[in-house]
Amino acid sequence: MSHPCPGNRVAEQTPRLEIRNLCRSYEGRRVVDDVSLAVRPGHVTCLLGPSGCGKSTTLRMIAGVEMQDSGEIHVDGKLICDTRTRVPPELRNIGLMFQDFALFPHLSVFENVGFGLNGDRAARARRIREMLDRVGLGQFENAFPHELSGGEQQRVALARALAPRPRIMLMDEPFSGLDNRLRDGIRDETLDILREEDAAVLLVTHEPNEAMRMADEIALMRGGKIVQRGAPYNVYNSPVDRDAVSFFSDINVIRGTVHGALTDTPFGRFLAPGVPDGQAVDIVIRPQHIKIDFDRGGRGPNPTSIDGSPALGVVQRSRFMGSESLIEFRMEHDGSTLRATVPNVFLPQPGLKLWLMIRRDRCFVFPARDGRAAG
Ligand SMILES: Nc1ncnc2c1ncn2[C@@H]1O[C@H](COP(=O)(O)OP(=O)(O)O)[C@@H](O)[C@H]1O
Ligand SMILES: [Mg+2]
Repeated sequence: MSHPCPGNRVAEQTPRLEIRNLCRSYEGRRVVDDVSLAVRPGHVTCLLGPSGCGKSTTLRMIAGVEMQDSGEIHVDGKLICDTRTRVPPELRNIGLMFQDFALFPHLSVFENVGFGLNGDRAARARRIREMLDRVGLGQFENAFPHELSGGEQQRVALARALAPRPRIMLMDEPFSGLDNRLRDGIRDETLDILREEDAAVLLVTHEPNEAMRMADEIALMRGGKIVQRGAPYNVYNSPVDRDAVSFFSDINVIRGTVHGALTDTPFGRFLAPGVPDGQAVDIVIRPQHIKIDFDRGGRGPNPTSIDGSPALGVVQRSRFMGSESLIEFRMEHDGSTLRATVPNVFLPQPGLKLWLMIRRDRCFVFPARDGRAAG
């Protein structure tokens, strides 16, 4: 590899699927607004966002069953669809898997998987058996869909979608029909198979957990636009705005006003770089990042500089949640409510006063949406 071939390098950089500036309106309302993204072979990108934000519409345009108003779709560097060119859906070599994945009830498992396959009989049979073995259903080839569990049917659907060796796999909430117990296992198996097949995967989901578990890259979508993209770790830990934090977890919000790029709160000072004087800011903190300490006969905690100042809260209720405990506080300084979670079992009695601190490295400071200063 001492003389890297430029041709190979280009091939490596060319995404399998690339969409540029896709737009789609219904009845004058933009539901997909300038969406661009790229997916490489063997990689999973999750389009993540609340219901109605335009995820399925984006997927349908890529599949070719819906036409964009503007924008381009490229596969392996070739234009397959803009407003003039249009490769029909059946020639796009794209595999599809949806929530209501509907196997053909009157066809056996074997016939279902072979449905979209070309080639001679022997080659088809070989590929069908290979895919059924891959999803662990080799012994079910003569069964009919109604004889299988939901999870098994799902795996048949996956085998069917992958049998023609699609270059791209589009999946729209494919696991939401499965019960929780099955889901995690099937997600992991599916991911392994997709990686082996080297398809570029675009997976749509409204569940942050699913996206965190499956994605190499998350594209966070809201109101038809992609508002943030990145590896799950980065999207979770460097959110672009308050809504991006709250989409992944419960949040606490403390309002402050900026003076000299700082805001003073009962929890001490927070940096607000680049925010003009007088602007209201929201300090956003996840419940697991609030630190709790005992009063120790009025002496209180010894905060480090990263903890800021402690503030007193009165326990309102404590709940055991299994892997963590959730404690709700009423803050002494302004009567506001804050929620903290701690690992394992910690269930302080209502009425107990505890000190709360906010870790500077775990909070996010955003200009407040309504811009009003703290009152
Ligand atoms: N064929 C259609 N005609 C009119 N409105 C539609 C049509 N399809 C989707 N929409 C609207 O477009 C928006 C985005 O829908 P969709 O892409 O299905 O969102 P998601 O998959 O993120 O839940 C929704 O408000 C939906 O009601
Ligand atoms: Mg949808």
